[in-house]
Amino acid sequence: MKRAVAAALLALVACGSKAASTPTSPTTPAPADPDPLRAAASAAGKLVGTAVQSSFLNDARYSAVFARHFNYVTAEYEMKWDPIERARGAEDFSGGDAIASSAAARGMQVKGHALVWNQAVPSWVGGLSAADLRVEFERHIRSVASHYRGRVIAWDVVNEAVDDVGFGLRDSMFRQKLGDRYIADAFRIAREADPQALLFYNDYGGEGLGGKSDAIYELVKGLLAQGVPIDGVGLQMHVRAAAAPADASVAANMRRLAALGLRVNISEMDVRVGDIGGSTADNLERQKTVYRSLVALCVAEPACHGVTFWGFTDAHSWIYNQYGPDAPLLFDAQYAPKPAFYGVLDALMRR
Ligand code: XIL
Repeated sequence: MKRAVAAALLALVACGSKAASTPTSPTTPAPADPDPLRAAASAAGKLVGTAVQSSFLNDARYSAVFARHFNYVTAEYEMKWDPIERARGAEDFSGGDAIASSAAARGMQVKGHALVWNQAVPSWVGGLSAADLRVEFERHIRSVASHYRGRVIAWDVVNEAVDDVGFGLRDSMFRQKLGDRYIADAFRIAREADPQALLFYNDYGGEGLGGKSDAIYELVKGLLAQGVPIDGVGLQMHVRAAAAPADASVAANMRRLAALGLRVNISEMDVRVGDIGGSTADNLERQKTVYRSLVALCVAEPACHGVTFWGFTDAHSWIYNQYGPDAPLLFDAQYAPKPAFYGVLDALMRR
């Protein structure tokens, strides 16, 4: 049933626009209005998304590029627990609502992000007893998933629950106070609150085969074996051009997740070049190659329902706070398409 609904939604996306495109070779100067990514994605049966913040939508240039190129949107921040409920019991959905209505007005789908994460948790939650945390945790998931029911096609239900060291479950407050079962509980509550939404586990550093992706694989396999309602896994894909995961490794990881009956998506892609030290032109070409080959994996994998970038203009990226100066996205800070943009377009058009 859920799969049928999702397939119908994808079909809807696919017929929403026609791919009208002129092939653009890497040497062709950038046209002012490049072919829309969303048309190419629709023709490939995929969603192409970006994270946004509602305040950016007031900028006309930002909003024009957003509207032209994307058919899927994720709130970068405003659907997390902290911005929604800074004071206990006083929920404020204004930021996420603004994003959802802007998406609806432009014929875009929305993915909710993220119901349970060890970060962006309101400070009052940290002081709760285990018994009170259970009550608030359940209420939070139910309330937010119900609020957005019918307006999102998917949720990142649990985000980043696997640790980087040893790859056990991260020893977050949720695990400490609620036990390992908090993950299964979160999915069950989300499914009850929004039976139509696809429910994803989302994480970073487990894109290709390796210790962390093995742990994620075992986690979701275990959830499925217990009958937990999980529909897919998000591969965040915050990568460095200099050390991106190998294509074959990511393809194999997507395949083994698909073989469990799950969907996958590339959920937060950006490609850092700040640490390469080459010429700007060389760096941007390397970045293009990484974007192109990794996005092509999603295009080629039937279980991959889309690619979401963690922003689209170098004018706004979380990377600067986290890692320092960089140029990680598809458009430059003046909203001109970079080589990376054409790499993504090529991948979506299978060329
Ligand atoms: C980041 C946002 O980009 C920032 O604006 C916010 O302040 C903190 O979170 N993994 C995730 C995302 O799942 O939610 C994070 O987003 C980036 C890492």
